[in-house]
Amino acid sequence: KAAEKGGFRSFMDKEIHDQPQAVADTLLGRTDTTGRLVLDEMRIDESVLRSVDKIVVVACGTAAYAGHVAKYAIEHWCRIPVEVELAHEFRYRDPVVDDRTLVVAVSQSGETMDTLMAVRHAKEQGATTLAIVNTHGSTIPRESDAALYTHAGPEIAVASTKAFLAQITAAYLLGLYLAQLRGNKFPDEISAIMAELRQMPEKIQQVLDRADRVREIARWMADTQSVLFLGRHVGYPVAMEGALKLKELAYIHAEGFAAGELKHGPIALIEPGQPVFVVVPSPRGRDSLHSKIVSNIQEIRARGARTLVIAEDGDEAVVPYADEVFSVPQSSTLLAPLLTVVPLQVFAAELATAKGLDVDQPRNLAKSVTVE
Ligand code: G6P
Repeated sequence: KAAEKGGFRSFMDKEIHDQPQAVADTLLGRTDTTGRLVLDEMRIDESVLRSVDKIVVVACGTAAYAGHVAKYAIEHWCRIPVEVELAHEFRYRDPVVDDRTLVVAVSQSGETMDTLMAVRHAKEQGATTLAIVNTHGSTIPRESDAALYTHAGPEIAVASTKAFLAQITAAYLLGLYLAQLRGNKFPDEISAIMAELRQMPEKIQQVLDRADRVREIARWMADTQSVLFLGRHVGYPVAMEGALKLKELAYIHAEGFAAGELKHGPIALIEPGQPVFVVVPSPRGRDSLHSKIVSNIQEIRARGARTLVIAEDGDEAVVPYADEVFSVPQSSTLLAPLLTVVPLQVFAAELATAKGLDVDQPRNLAKSVTVE
């Protein structure tokens, strides 16, 4: 066991540190020498992908948050409407799906029964189904029309970490491939994004190298009863994933919110000392997202919240309102989740460890849930 953990105290810690490799391996071999994406391995008819007029991502748990990130990227790059739905909700609400719909099932294990049932339902409606899955030979890719594998390697810890980053990476590949096929983007734009993607493993490593401060704060917070997470745009699913990790690993009440929703309700939760993580988008991004979230931080700080801010290197605007800044390397807005989620994973794992909990086998959870 100790050898399998590669010198780390838990599979969770090991898998968090495996993430640069998981992303690099998921990118490997998916472009040709000219930089064109080649995903023939999916074994899906290109004409089907050209005629798709809607994508529905179905998944559960962490995989569903990867689906949320996929929505932002695919809609932006390909101009195809993308819905994301929890697989168990999709199946039972009579969804509008037809032969021009691509249903993308995201699953680490490939065995989640809720997700499998959603795939079966989609097929019955005539949709084309594509599985983004980590486990070869599993049921979901076998029953789907096509498969795009993530190459995260075996994930042992129950709560998902490296598979999540690999799922997001695969979703970017799918989005760029669709954009290439459908002519939404010029080849040089696609190769520029691919070049940035290939730099992400190194940047994830930098986030890991800087994580000591996150661990220190997590240990100080071992008695915390409740933590809130705010994010906007792709930072929103990151905030929800941060909250999920903390629930799963540390059994702490945690909620992720869209930062813009704060004034519509959650701000009532803010009282002196309430810890709030805020995932801040790049100040170099196009619109006014960054300044909006900075004013959110200001608002909650004014009400006494303890603000734990995840921001890009060089973002000075957040500093006056942050109790702590955890900085991540610069990236384009859409790719940032590969970086910003990492401190949240480290935080949850460290806090749980400080509470003496088993981070690899949290109570009541199963690695793959094979019942509906
Ligand atoms: C279980 C696990 C979660 C996981 C979810 C989906 O609930 O505890 O960590 O995110 O299933 O699993 P899948 O294998 O479909 O990604």
